[in-house]
Amino acid sequence: MTRNGRRGWPRRRGMDDGAGAVRPGAAAGPVLRAVGLARVYGEDESAIWAVDGIDLDVPAGQMLAVMGPSGCGKSTLLQLLGGLDRPTEGEVWLGGQRIDDLGERALARMRRRCLGFVFQAYHLIDELTAAENVELPALLAGASPRTARHRTAELLDRVGLADRARHLPSQLSGGQRQRIAIARALVNKPLVVLADEPTGNLDSAATLDILRLFGELRAAGQTLVMVTHDERVAATADRVVSLRDGVPADDTALDSDTGTARLGTLLNWEN
Ligand SMILES: Nc1ncnc2c1ncn2[C@@H]1O[C@H](COP(=O)(O)OP(=O)(O)OP(=O)(O)O)[C@@H](O)[C@H]1O
Ligand SMILES: [Mg+2]
Repeated sequence: MTRNGRRGWPRRRGMDDGAGAVRPGAAAGPVLRAVGLARVYGEDESAIWAVDGIDLDVPAGQMLAVMGPSGCGKSTLLQLLGGLDRPTEGEVWLGGQRIDDLGERALARMRRRCLGFVFQAYHLIDELTAAENVELPALLAGASPRTARHRTAELLDRVGLADRARHLPSQLSGGQRQRIAIARALVNKPLVVLADEPTGNLDSAATLDILRLFGELRAAGQTLVMVTHDERVAATADRVVSLRDGVPADDTALDSDTGTARLGTLLNWEN
């Protein structure tokens, strides 16, 4: 989408609303913060402001759902928050550290150590077993083989796939692949898990398995930001931000107890 009535590229978004002055270094600050975040694709007349100036604070332990119509900037936002892409404007802070201006190597290290990613299409490595897929990021982050193995066994158990450790991704169902991808995302005990349409390829039963797992993660205090089209999935979050044309059109806190009850009802009803 092009920018509402605005032309010219790029423009500086003013930081005089106070948001830019806050430095989330304090332990009590949000674990993830976006300040005046914008991302432009293309230039001049064909410029698309996929993310058009977003201020967002995600407190530790929050499960945040990002919704909105196709093309409104959800994936772009998630990629910016996760340091997979660089903003045109604005800042991203993770755990009190600014990350959007890190060099490539430092950014890659930070992603490995502090973030877990879950994608709609799983993105597992086909040639590696389920266990090896989970273990790999731990080894890359410097864990000893023994620690990586131990943590992997623990996580495969947690996602209910201990008996599939030696299977290749091609020998697993979509739901099982996604559970392996979630185990992989958790292996380095990330500050934040970022999930883009984690249930987008899954049927109803597999979706409920993933929701149950996310419910457990939320109960354990894991911060999670997930993009979803599915109202049922969003209804289990603590908060729903709806994007329109690259900006939040709505930001609603859901009652956590109600969210848990909703998840319980969904699980009982569907099973
Ligand atoms: N690499 C790119 N180059 C140019 N334009 C892009 C690029 N990636 C995304 N866009 C554009 O930016 C806008 C936002 O895209 P984005 O993928 O973030 O949307 P989305 O909300 O995730 O959509 P969906 O629900 O379909 O996944 C769209 O208009 C898209 O066409
Ligand atoms: Mg998307």
